[in-house]
Amino acid sequence: MNKFEYTYKQKESEALTYYKKLRENYQREDCLIEMRDDLIEWEKQQKKRTAFTTIAKVIDDKNKLKWLKKTGELDQYLDRSISYIYLRDLGYSLIDPATKARVKNVAQELEQSLLNMGEDTFHFASLFRWAQKEGVEQTYIWLYEKIKMVSDHMPEQLDRDNARRKLIKLIAGVYMHEVENMPEDISRVDRRERLARALRLGYCYGLTYPFIDDLLDSAILTEEEKSLFSDIIRTTIKTGVVPKFPSWNNAYQDFLQFIQCELEEAFQYIHQTLDEEKKEDFFLQAYVFFTAQEEDRVKSLSNNYYTNKEIYLPIILKSSSSRLIVRSLIQAKTDVEINQRIFYYGIYNQLADDFTDLFLDLENKAVTPYTYYLTYYKERDDLINPFKLYWIVTHFLIRHVYDGDGRTKKVILDRAMNGLKRLRNRLGEEGFREIMGIYEKEIDQMIPIIDRVTKREFNIDFLDKFIRDQILTTMSEERAAKRKFQAQAEQIKTLLTENLTIAKEQWTGVVTDAVNYSIANNGKKLRPLMTAMLAKEAYQLTYEEVLPLLKSLEYMHTASLIFDDLPSQDNAAFRRASPTLHNVYDHATAELAGVYLSQKAIESQASLKGFDPLAILSMMQYSTRMTAQICEGQALDLASNKERLTEEALTKMCYLKTGLGFEVALLLPMILMSETETNQAYMKQFAYHLGLAFQIKDDILDEEGAFEEIGKPVQLDQDNERSTFVTILGVENAKKAMWEHYASGYEVLKEFSFNTMFLQQLLDYVIHRVK
Ligand code: IPE
Ligand code: IPE
Ligand code: MG
Ligand code: MG
Ligand code: MG
Repeated sequence: MNKFEYTYKQKESEALTYYKKLRENYQREDCLIEMRDDLIEWEKQQKKRTAFTTIAKVIDDKNKLKWLKKTGELDQYLDRSISYIYLRDLGYSLIDPATKARVKNVAQELEQSLLNMGEDTFHFASLFRWAQKEGVEQTYIWLYEKIKMVSDHMPEQLDRDNARRKLIKLIAGVYMHEVENMPEDISRVDRRERLARALRLGYCYGLTYPFIDDLLDSAILTEEEKSLFSDIIRTTIKTGVVPKFPSWNNAYQDFLQFIQCELEEAFQYIHQTLDEEKKEDFFLQAYVFFTAQEEDRVKSLSNNYYTNKEIYLPIILKSSSSRLIVRSLIQAKTDVEINQRIFYYGIYNQLADDFTDLFLDLENKAVTPYTYYLTYYKERDDLINPFKLYWIVTHFLIRHVYDGDGRTKKVILDRAMNGLKRLRNRLGEEGFREIMGIYEKEIDQMIPIIDRVTKREFNIDFLDKFIRDQILTTMSEERAAKRKFQAQAEQIKTLLTENLTIAKEQWTGVVTDAVNYSIANNGKKLRPLMTAMLAKEAYQLTYEEVLPLLKSLEYMHTASLIFDDLPSQDNAAFRRASPTLHNVYDHATAELAGVYLSQKAIESQASLKGFDPLAILSMMQYSTRMTAQICEGQALDLASNKERLTEEALTKMCYLKTGLGFEVALLLPMILMSETETNQAYMKQFAYHLGLAFQIKDDILDEEGAFEEIGKPVQLDQDNERSTFVTILGVENAKKAMWEHYASGYEVLKEFSFNTMFLQQLLDYVIHRVK
């Protein structure tokens, strides 16, 4: 027997002891009676402190936290939520005074940021701020890009949103463990290093969920391929190295290749980062986890002969080892008591989760204690009722693991009842009753109180559930916003394509030909897009009404590109995937085309109809003035090869040459509609950050992009020896600067009263674009 099998046997026998203990309590009358009495006591306490809660129900999630503050419930809410995380995720005991103090501290800190930022607390922009504070922004950006890449690669069959959520949750878990195990007097540098390491390890371990677990549960692989894949994973765990994947002859070849690369990198990192002892611990726990998981996975719902032991042992093993693994990733000594508690807690969680997922599991024909019982309870009276076992485990935790501590009891019961309430809400009355009807056997003394409590409007919500819901809603809202953004963008682009071409002038017509060549090439048309969307969202104007504006912006912008590409400036051979204008025609014609276009822009603005003429005038005055400044910015850029610019000078230059173009796009409709000075000022702030993020990304693409995507020469800035964010700061720091502007831009959005989703989309687009 090798050390892996040996460890498994050993853990299995521990699990067996626990199982026997639970079994014994399962047969006893008094456990459930005690449990019921605890619940009745709990209900009494609840009644004392709930007057407002019926109203709380109509409060939507977005205002929930403020509402809780108002009713005085926020303290309790945070206390139970944080306490529960310390119990369940961290394996701490609430009896310990140090834990009590920590819970209090964390709750206070959290209250502050929750009240300041509400649900924004968990937006990627806010999380970046937190990463900045801790000095781990580089890891944060790395992580963000990784998570995005993972979900972008996920095929339809896998639940992308949930995979992403789980990944984030696991990373947060490892992070929390690490934070909790840091000495209080740790230096900032050490803290930063440990946090960065924890985040990366969290990702590496978290990856196993979508890429191993979800994959093996999905229909992407055939049974044969699954067993091949399992072998690969087992080898990985035993050797610490991901072996080469075979060439899968299926539709998911690319995805599987991607998995191989990412897992390889992840295991490499784990391998080189953990010390020998921790590494050994990690791989042994991983082996237990994976093996138990496999035992579960191969079960079939059509087999009616599994024993209780066969059902429950793997569950005890997998649910505890998956959490114990986390402790092997952090820099803390082994703590026997913590490990013991985590071990006992596992099955409690699993039984709660499986109850919630009952119908989903049934649909997938997955064997869980609940689906199995549901399928066979009529013909097999030896089967353990999982819902009863759930209460037996709860009883065991409260009485034995936590010595009957009152606060622990309350938190655990809050959680249990919250879970059942959520289930009842989700299933509706009929569904809930039906389920209770199935699982009430031998626990009928508990049913009335469960029924009563889950119907009442007690507020026993938890923050982690709130975050979970928020993440999922945000993800689906953002997907919808992205779809809307794309659809609108297409519409505006079509309108522009139909209207941008300029009629051929008499005499030579060569300049108009040249101009049309530049315009017809495929630009992103980002500036008019912004203008059109703002006009629509903030002022309910149609795209047609502002069409002259849209045209003027694209004319101006194209003119600036024609000049920018000239040999006297950047000397670029390609633009928008075609040879640059001066190469197709000649320099003189290109210059004339540039002048022609910038005048055409003014002509177009002057042709606006249906707006206040004075407003049009002041808008044109502003836009022509800004063009003058853009020229100044461009001059600074051209001179930037003579001496390296400071970051400050660089920022100024980019603001002038690029930021102002964005500002003009967003300000024109505002001036046209005589918007207040205050709102114009906020929009200038937003445009500043958006424009800078855009130019920094442009600099990054110049360094890292592909010609096929960006359609213009790569590494031209380096050839021209220009000062850019990349040539001066390097790619990593350029990304930090870009994120800084992303977060700042996001923070301005709350100042506007119109729907700013498209501005958020713009920010996202700007930092993610590949061309
Ligand atoms: C390029 O602008 C000039 C910069 C400010 C970096 P775009 O990247 O918007 O160019 P097109 O219009 O899509 O070609
Ligand atoms: C261009 O900056 C700024 C303008 C306003 C024209 P870049 O020189 O970096 O733009 P690309 O990379 O050529 O598009
Ligand atoms: Mg340039
Ligand atoms: Mg250029
Ligand atoms: Mg560039």
